Amino acid sequence: MDSNELRRIYLKFFKEKNHEIIPSASIMPENDPTVLFTTAGMHPLQIFLMGQPHPAGNRLANCQKCIRTIDIDEVGDANHLTFFEMLGNWSLGDYFKEEAISMSWEFLTDARWLGLDPEKISVTVFAGDDEVPRDEESAESWHRMGIPNERIYYLGRSDNWWGPAGDTGPCGPDTEMFYDTGKDPCSETCSPGCNCGKYFEIWNDVFMSYNKKSDGTYEKLRQHNVDTGMGIERTVAVLNGMETVYEIDTIAPLVEKVVKLAQIKDQPNEEQTRAIRIIVDHIKAATFILGDDKQLRPSNLGQGYVLRRLIRRIIRQANLLNIKQRFLPELSQTVIDLYREIYPELARNNNFILENLSQEEQKFSAALRRGIRKFNQILKEKNIITGKDAFLLFTSFGFPLEITTELAAEKNIVIDIEAFKEEFEHHRNLSRKATAGTFQSGLADHSEKTTRLHTATHLLQQALRDVLGDHVEQRGSNITPERTRFDFSHSRNLSAEEIKNVEDIVNQKIQEALPVRKEILTPQEAQKQGALGFFEERYEGKVSVYSVGSFSKEICTGPHVKNTHDIGRFKIQKQRNIGSGLIRIRATVE
Ligand code: ALA
Repeated sequence: MDSNELRRIYLKFFKEKNHEIIPSASIMPENDPTVLFTTAGMHPLQIFLMGQPHPAGNRLANCQKCIRTIDIDEVGDANHLTFFEMLGNWSLGDYFKEEAISMSWEFLTDARWLGLDPEKISVTVFAGDDEVPRDEESAESWHRMGIPNERIYYLGRSDNWWGPAGDTGPCGPDTEMFYDTGKDPCSETCSPGCNCGKYFEIWNDVFMSYNKKSDGTYEKLRQHNVDTGMGIERTVAVLNGMETVYEIDTIAPLVEKVVKLAQIKDQPNEEQTRAIRIIVDHIKAATFILGDDKQLRPSNLGQGYVLRRLIRRIIRQANLLNIKQRFLPELSQTVIDLYREIYPELARNNNFILENLSQEEQKFSAALRRGIRKFNQILKEKNIITGKDAFLLFTSFGFPLEITTELAAEKNIVIDIEAFKEEFEHHRNLSRKATAGTFQSGLADHSEKTTRLHTATHLLQQALRDVLGDHVEQRGSNITPERTRFDFSHSRNLSAEEIKNVEDIVNQKIQEALPVRKEILTPQEAQKQGALGFFEERYEGKVSVYSVGSFSKEICTGPHVKNTHDIGRFKIQKQRNIGSGLIRIRATVE
């Protein structure tokens, strides 16, 4: 059974069970600033789990493209991936535990569907705690399906509770299904939930009937929901008796290509295997991010920085494998061809994907070589790589901290990450040029006029988002005392009416005399509060966040006016479609 077949029969099964098949949502969440990428099929459905009616009804199923970077350091082992596809079915206030479990069981064991041996399936259910009772109902349902008590395990919150996807939102106890691969147990206590490889998790049915609130407490949702998730890659591996996801149909051809590029003749050794897997996983993730209709490019901010890190990590791993030639576009084309029927956006954005990969590869390949030379030179001179050195490699050679950390680890050196961050902060405060790209506030001159334009630019970005949608994101900005120039993601020129709406909103906010407030937050806090423009999710330093009333919130180095009435009258002078999905606006304040 290959991925296409699993996807096809899963959706067919749920269609027969009266589910509406909905398309995969974007890989970048539309209305959720708390998470950079769509991490599960339920993610785009959160408002419907909270009670809003879904236009397609209350029984849904789909196959969702997902990115999870939380385990990025684990990529390289047998089963961790940053890109994967998740099959899911949902009940929005319709069926609940018994029916969900009985459908899962039928799909897994019936000969018409997966036909797995029922004896090899074990399940876990929520053991209960102070807040939510033990899930006897699910256990009884499993029992009725024919699973004996010995194969029903009760586990706590860390295993059998799922969600919310961000910090708040729908969540609940879950029941997970495991397939016994037949391997010997690793110990006497080996059971589902153990990572030794004997038990492979294939499906998760979440009973989303709680809402986690921002104060950390849970309340019952108005409706009982079901949210399920079956990872295609892992399930295909299990169904085919494979030991790693890298052997399946949507991954093996990429492994083969990289092995060829690296001219590895025999079985790759452990180090080579890890490098090959990182390259293969990351090229898929990068291709899907670039292939999204939002046309995000590599940058030094937020999602764009995750994309850049993925690509730069590929190049670094290729360097370890001694791959000399440029290969990213070619490898990515294989990904596109594997998936173009299922995700036509990849074909639509084919050129965009290849161009950006090629540019980033060109930019970083040379920098990597020079940076490694520099790294070795520092090491020779000082016998140590300090946080300050890591910072130099970051600013001068574009080395994400993790690349320097990895290079250092090979020489048994531990980088002082705190020192790196201190250096980072120090330089950011001293010279905004120290960090490339949109991090620069683009202020050539801190005169009063530019300060007014700077705050106006924040209003502009929010007004554009209000009028055109949340896909609008700053991609560049430059302010002189004469005007602000603002580049943002949007695929076509604005109509006269849209321009007027945007101007009206900005001028309205100026008239409201809104206070401008500055806070110093961690990027995580800033992200949680929905601030726009935001640096790598793992970076732990502090950032300044400017809020204009409750209208706009952005990470920014300032300076800004104290109150919007100081801005004056705002006018859009020009707009131009500068290609690649970017519109450039020039605006003035009088
Ligand atoms: N949302 C659940 C998961 O990702 C189904 O496992």
